[in-house]
Amino acid sequence: MKISSTALGALCAIRLAVTETSAESLNAMMKAKGKLYFGNIVDTNTLAEPNATEILKTEFGMFTPEYSMKWNFIQASQGKFTFDNSDKVVDWARKNDKQIRGHTLVWHQNIPDWVDAITDKASLTKVIENHIGKVVGRYRGRVYAWDVVNEVFNENGTFRNSVFHRVLGQDFIPLAFEAAHKADPNARLYINEYNLDFPGPKIDAMMNLIQSLQSKNVSIHGIGTQSHLTSNKTVDTVPAQLKRLASTKLDVAITELDIRLKRPVDDEKLAKQKQEYELVTRACLEINNCVGVSMWGVSDKDSWIPSTLPEFDAPLLWNKKFERKVAYKGVVGVLGGEPG
Ligand code: XIL
Repeated sequence: MKISSTALGALCAIRLAVTETSAESLNAMMKAKGKLYFGNIVDTNTLAEPNATEILKTEFGMFTPEYSMKWNFIQASQGKFTFDNSDKVVDWARKNDKQIRGHTLVWHQNIPDWVDAITDKASLTKVIENHIGKVVGRYRGRVYAWDVVNEVFNENGTFRNSVFHRVLGQDFIPLAFEAAHKADPNARLYINEYNLDFPGPKIDAMMNLIQSLQSKNVSIHGIGTQSHLTSNKTVDTVPAQLKRLASTKLDVAITELDIRLKRPVDDEKLAKQKQEYELVTRACLEINNCVGVSMWGVSDKDSWIPSTLPEFDAPLLWNKKFERKVAYKGVVGVLGGEPG
C-alpha cells in the first residue's frame, strides 16, 4: 500500500508527540505524585556543559547552586559582594521556568579568613546579619527556599567547631534564621545536614535542636537531609529516619542525594543501586511533608564523590557518557513512568 508523504509526515508528528508526552520528566512525574519537585544542582560549570544542561532542563524543576552562593564566592573580602555567577544561575533558572533552593548562608566551609578571624559577638552578629540581609535580599521573591545553616553537628551530636559556634554558641542559628526571614519573609527556611540517614546521636541532636527552635518560634520551615548515601550500608534506614524528621511537622526535603558504590563498579552493584534509588524515592512519596528530592549532580563524570572519597564511584543516575543508568529507570518506575 502506497502512503503519501503528507500522511507519513503526519504519522511522524503524532509519534513524536506521543514520545514527548510519554517521556515525562522526573520533575513532572514527581509533581503528578503530589510533590513539589525533583531537583538537582546547577552552576556555571554545568551550564557550560551542553550534555548536563540539556538533562537539567528536561528532567528537573528545582535547582541548588553547587557553589556560587557560598560565602567565599559572594563576599570573599568584607563588604565586597560579587553576585556575577549566582546571578547567572538565578537568571538561567527563571529563563527556563525553574525554581531555586539557595545554598548556603552559614556553613563552616567556604568561609573567608576575615570571617574566621572574628572573635567578638557584636562584630560577628553584624557580619552575619549583613551577609544574609544582602544575599537573601538580592534574590527576594526569586528563591523558593534557603539552606540557612548547614552541617552544624559533629557525628557524636555535639556542635561542630566553627567561628559561629565558638563566638556565639548555639545563638548563631536563630540569629541566621531571623536575618533570612527579615530579608525574604516568603522564602522557606531550612536547616541542612548530612548523615541523618541512620539512627544515632546526630539525628537525636537535630531533633532536640528543632524542638528548641520551635519552642522559641524561630522562623524555620524545613529540614534538609542531604542523603549522601553509601550503597549497601546507609540506605535501608532512610525511610524511618525521614519519617522521624517529618514528625517535627516541618517540611522535609532530600537535598543532596547520591548513592556511592565501592570501586570496582559492576552490574551487580548498579542493580543494587537501582533498588536503593527506588527505596529513597518511595520514602519521600510516602511522607506527606516530604516536599521533594534533589540530586547532587547529573553525571557520574561530574560528581564530587570520586575526588572526595576516592574508594567510591558512580553515585548518580547518568553514567560518565550521560547515558541513563538502570537506577534512572528505577526512579521512573517508582514515579509511575514506564517500568525500569
Ligand atoms: C560540595 C561541592 O559539590 C563540591 O564541588 C565542592 O568542592 C565542595 O562542596 N555538603 C554540602 C555541599 O552542603 O555544599 C557540598 O558541596 C557537599 C557536601
